[in-house]
Amino acid sequence: MKVLLTILAAANGLTCEDGQVKTFFKMTKSEQTSNWDNIAKDLLQNTLTSAYRKHNSETNAVVQWNRADETERVSFCLEVKDNVSDDTAKKLRQAIYYLKPNVYGAMQTNETVLVFDGVPKTYVIEEESRQWLYPYYAFMGLGLIGIAASLYASVKENKVEEAEEEESTRMSKKTSISATDVETKPAYESIEKGDGFSESADF
Ligand SMILES: *[C@@H]1O[C@H](CO)[C@@H](O)[C@H](O)[C@H]1NC(C)=O
Ligand SMILES: *[C@@H]1O[C@H](CO)[C@@H](O)[C@H](O)[C@H]1NC(C)=O
Repeated sequence: MKVLLTILAAANGLTCEDGQVKTFFKMTKSEQTSNWDNIAKDLLQNTLTSAYRKHNSETNAVVQWNRADETERVSFCLEVKDNVSDDTAKKLRQAIYYLKPNVYGAMQTNETVLVFDGVPKTYVIEEESRQWLYPYYAFMGLGLIGIAASLYASVKENKVEEAEEEESTRMSKKTSISATDVETKPAYESIEKGDGFSESADF
């Protein structure tokens, strides 16, 4: 692992020591010549120094890098002056992480362009955590489709049953109507006959 990291670092043109924070400022050649001057370097150094002091409450700490050792593609090794250790590197990473708005605001750039090794990218973490959910979402989606399909099927079945029921009740009504028709016909006849009886009773 260590060997692989060393090879990668060498391929990238820069190896930082323990206790240093490798930094990569991705710029085109023209951006470098027009923007990456001593004023910009002082600004970055001051910004990182105040972030370190503020976050760690160490009022005398100074963040620096060897400007002569910057690579062509602008990468360099940050360190806390006269106090290079894993502990100060960790504190520097934390300061950068928690004061990102200050650092990136001052440099007018973002996490894609100015990369501090070991400082997690805020939005990448969110993206990754959402990506882990994609299979879950897909599974949920299939489940919901399944539920919707079975609901639809059962509703449709009920409708068919209802329609069948309606049909059968209509039919039984019809038969009962016809049955009463049959029954009432003689009743009318008997009433008609009855009229005759009452007429005769009036006499
Ligand atoms: C070096 O850093 C440690 C914290 O990592 C701090 O406690 C200590 O005061 C620092 N030493 C100097 C000389 O600044
Ligand atoms: C970061 O800045 C660069 C150049 O200014 C831009 O092209 C890129 O889209 C920005 N990235 C994000 C994530 O804002």
